[in-house]
Amino acid sequence: MKNAIIETERTIIRELVPTDGAGMFELDSNPNVHRYIERKPVESIEQSKKTIIAIRKQYAKIGVGRWAVELKETGKFIGWTGFKANGEPINDLSDYVDLGYRFIEDYWGKGYATETGIACPNYAFTHLPYEKIYGFADVNNGASNHILKKIGFKFENKFLWDETPHYCYSTARDSWLDEFGPKTSPTI
Ligand SMILES: CC(C)(COP(=O)(O)OP(=O)(O)OC[C@H]1O[C@@H](n2cnc3c(N)ncnc32)[C@H](O)[C@@H]1OP(=O)(O)O)[C@@H](O)C(=O)NCCC(=O)NCCS
Repeated sequence: MKNAIIETERTIIRELVPTDGAGMFELDSNPNVHRYIERKPVESIEQSKKTIIAIRKQYAKIGVGRWAVELKETGKFIGWTGFKANGEPINDLSDYVDLGYRFIEDYWGKGYATETGIACPNYAFTHLPYEKIYGFADVNNGASNHILKKIGFKFENKFLWDETPHYCYSTARDSWLDEFGPKTSPTI
């Protein structure tokens, strides 16, 4: 197992490493991937390599960051999931942790965002000191809004991010673990 942070049924979630440059370029050079985020597909593999360097600085500084998702069966890099802390101030939030995810288009619609998305709050609320995690999605990003609700995030408000309407969701440790955490049988 290649330094897994989290293992799911079909994937391993691990740190992004410099050799993921080609995979990150495949991901971020596709305008369809950027339809509801950033809207700036990358144009060179060097840009993707710089992104990996920046994310690896977050690992060193705060212990988390967006993590690579790799298929167990083939070792293929299919995208990323995971947390960002203290990103740019948005929606009147300046000190927050958010869950994000992004996958190569060939792998959409196969349940990978849901499978890895649910594994992330599970990991955070059992291994990291986070009490609340946010999620943000463009109001027109049907799949992402659906996934956030499905993995236990509750609607908070609508706000403008770069002049584009977004929904803000959040989930808190106790309520998330009540709904999705490991269940123990009551002792009789
Ligand atoms: C959004 C994204 C992460 C989804 O990944 P995925 O692996 O295809 O997602 P899943 O297969 O786990 O789940 C998709 C769910 O959304 C549903 N869905 C798809 N399109 C939808 C739409 N337009 N409206 C509502 N629901 C939709 C699917 O039916 C599925 O739900 P179900 O399993 O309950 O049937 C992927 O499309 C992606 O990487 N997009 C580009 C980057 C991006 O937008 N990231 C999110 C930023 S907030």
